[in-house]
Amino acid sequence: NSILKDIESATAKTQDELESYRIKFISKKSVVGELFNELKNIPNDQKRAFGQEINKVKQAAQDKFQELIESLETQSSSGSSNHIDLTLPPTGEAGSIHPLNIVKGNIIEIFERLGFNVSDGPEIEDDWHNFTALNFPENHPAREMQDTFFIERNPDMLLRTHTSNVQVRLMNNNKPPFRSIMPGRVFRNEAISARAHCVFHQIEGLYVDENVSFADLKQTLYHFAKELFGPETQIRFRPSYFPFTEPSAEIDISCQICHGDGCQLCKYSGWVEIAGSGMVDPNVLENCGIDSEKYTGFAFGMGVERITQLKYRVNDLRLYTENDIRFLKQFKTAN
Ligand code: PHE
Repeated sequence: NSILKDIESATAKTQDELESYRIKFISKKSVVGELFNELKNIPNDQKRAFGQEINKVKQAAQDKFQELIESLETQSSSGSSNHIDLTLPPTGEAGSIHPLNIVKGNIIEIFERLGFNVSDGPEIEDDWHNFTALNFPENHPAREMQDTFFIERNPDMLLRTHTSNVQVRLMNNNKPPFRSIMPGRVFRNEAISARAHCVFHQIEGLYVDENVSFADLKQTLYHFAKELFGPETQIRFRPSYFPFTEPSAEIDISCQICHGDGCQLCKYSGWVEIAGSGMVDPNVLENCGIDSEKYTGFAFGMGVERITQLKYRVNDLRLYTENDIRFLKQFKTAN
């Protein structure tokens, strides 16, 4: 009976108090639970009466529990506690999109307007898709330990060093024409510093069809640079070498667009490199089962960190991964 009184007078103004009530009167180890344990010590002729009695107590305890839950709920929806009402419109500070994602989104959008779609591929890759199919000679320095993270137990497997593996997979598994861009994470065995990181992001582009020419490549990237960096941007192509493209060119943009810290990237020359590019080497097309007499194509690849550095004047690559809220907050209104 004293238990019944306690139950009657119990209150719960917070979730914690509700939980204490539950432990005290409802759980197996509660005072009510104890009564049920005692049942086995009661003489047989009294068992029935005792049983009815404790069932009443149990029922009372549960009714009261329900009552307390309900009153807590009405109390909190009237705003008098710290209960969170998920139906209210958001208040307080919203997060911001990571700068690398903003720039990746910008780049994808520009190419989508030109009719490119987005393709994806694995980060753990075999030698053939990352190197051999792309016409890397047997002893090309890029295969060496200092550049590539090989997977120890299986020297044929590695962390992709560029997104060009997606080119190979796309061409191998589909029929031309292709017009695709391929964003993704890539890995190189580099010491982490303000200018280098062992994990970074690239966006690769591939366009293969009949009669694709170097003029198409130039015009596409010319348009891209002006869209991303502004209409006053100058672009220049510098002859270069990649195993998988012939001829190859590195693409520079003029860097009047950059002031202050970000300018360390183009301090003296007034030009800064933003991408590698070239006409897909016929060997690569053939390796992927594409008729190189009929089809030609161009490819390009750029580093998202680097482009973000130029666009937002970020002077240290490490800032991207440190999760410092003071850095991230600055991109709140950017896009
Ligand atoms: N894969 C090259 C790199 O990582 C970039 C590139 C892509 C160059 C496509 C030309 C064509 O450096």
